[in-house]
Amino acid sequence: MGGSGNPRREVRETFPAAGREAVVAGDLLPDPPIAVRPWGLGSARPPSLPHRTRRPACGAQDVKTIIEPFRIKAVEPIRMIDRRQRQEVLERAGYNPFRIPSTDVLIDLLTDSGTSAMSTAQWAGIMVGDEAYACSRSFDSFEQSVQSIFGFKHILPTHQGRAAERILFSVMCHPGDVVPNNTHFDTTRANIEARGAEAVDLPIPEASQPATEHPFKGNMDTEALEALIDRVGASRIPLAMITITNNAGGGQPVSLENIRNVRAILSRHRIPLYIDACRFAENSWFIREREAGYAGREPIEIAREIFACADGCTMSAKKDGLVNIGGFLATNDDRLAGLEQNLLILTEGFPTYGGLAGRDLEAIALGLQEALAVDYLEYRIASTRYLGDGLHAAGIPAVRPPGGHAIYVDARSFLPHIPPLEYPGQALVGEMYRHAGIRAVETGQVMFGRPDPATGAEAPVKLDLVRLAIPRRVYTQSHIDYVLEAMTEIAGRKEEIGGLEIVEQEGALRHFTARFKPRRRPGG
Ligand code: F0G
Repeated sequence: MGGSGNPRREVRETFPAAGREAVVAGDLLPDPPIAVRPWGLGSARPPSLPHRTRRPACGAQDVKTIIEPFRIKAVEPIRMIDRRQRQEVLERAGYNPFRIPSTDVLIDLLTDSGTSAMSTAQWAGIMVGDEAYACSRSFDSFEQSVQSIFGFKHILPTHQGRAAERILFSVMCHPGDVVPNNTHFDTTRANIEARGAEAVDLPIPEASQPATEHPFKGNMDTEALEALIDRVGASRIPLAMITITNNAGGGQPVSLENIRNVRAILSRHRIPLYIDACRFAENSWFIREREAGYAGREPIEIAREIFACADGCTMSAKKDGLVNIGGFLATNDDRLAGLEQNLLILTEGFPTYGGLAGRDLEAIALGLQEALAVDYLEYRIASTRYLGDGLHAAGIPAVRPPGGHAIYVDARSFLPHIPPLEYPGQALVGEMYRHAGIRAVETGQVMFGRPDPATGAEAPVKLDLVRLAIPRRVYTQSHIDYVLEAMTEIAGRKEEIGGLEIVEQEGALRHFTARFKPRRRPGG
């Protein structure tokens, strides 16, 4: 493992909303404190903090280094290819990471979705999966596990999150309706729009300021929510959503206080609240770390408090379910559940398997519980923060503070010599692959910009970010040190990175398939 050359010091920041100090690892210091290896965060937290008290009494609580809380039992080799080969791959892929064969990628940070490593218990669950068409035993395990955390009355398994979204909005939305969210994920927005309804984002203002520190940058703007209800009328809002953590807004958490305030506003207008729960465990951890009154609480208790505020949820188990496929839709409403079940049968399957195999249901049942373990979440959030703080120390601008599942580099600030319409984010993604075989994804001009149908011209979007998403339990600290070293090298000669132009694009989701070419040769 790498990392011994990463002495870190504590940097204390007071998050105003939390009213208490949060501690994050930060700048380089000449003298390392004690144990600072894996994830470099051991020094950051005095052992007297409450969350340490639940550690097993085996002496581990005296060692401050946060380690990967697992041993590796099966490995998947990574194929090393050299820079010349990567340049060829990049050109063949039209500078689009979605077109790069995964076997040509060294470190794959494209997404944290469906890319988790499963535990031995989950693999054992795979073997005992009951593949009966109806009323399989595996559905019972799944339902019990989901209900123990989420508490909702009706649980409908789906093949992934967007299937749950499609069923929910098919039942609840009509043309002309409006659905607010802190920020809709793109499949959520697309499924709402497919019903002829309007998806409205209501993030707090800090969400669009990458450098601003805020403990709950994923919060919904409650004043904007009240204004929207006043403007369009409650009868046009069949439901509101909150996405935890806010993926499109930088993987930032939402506080329980904010969820309660949103709930109170919605209750006054009899509008149901649904949670997009993909990263609920990571969000629960941030509440424990940052929200007054939650220090040391079990993550499962915090999760239960979150879902007690809601009428239902959509879930992609490919994130905090720690599995490679699966999801569910949950609701407390008997009437809606009946309608949803009919749609489920139409396209997903019988209600006790909903598009999944029995073995998938077993793996989700276990994965949801594993994702809430204190040791796992402590390591998970520390490892993301390690990447975020390392980039920060190297002077690479990124959304602050680090989110739960990903770090979002501010490519427009990082490469100010590349104008937005020459796609600085896409250019950085290409350079990360060419230089080091790292795959990331642009979330900016390419993903959100649209050519005007009349003129073909494109207006610049708000932000050009590059997302480095961290698969769960997959990479070790030395992989992340490799990423940090590569990014630091790129930063050292960033003026050589040139802009791109689009040579081929198709439709609203052009980022998946578009082809690009350099405006000038890299380094030329
Ligand atoms: N909601 C959020 C917040 C998501 O991040 C995703 C997927 C979905 C819904 C849809 O779930 O993929 O299982 O259908 N996010 C992935 C990502 C694709 O890379 O962020 P799905």
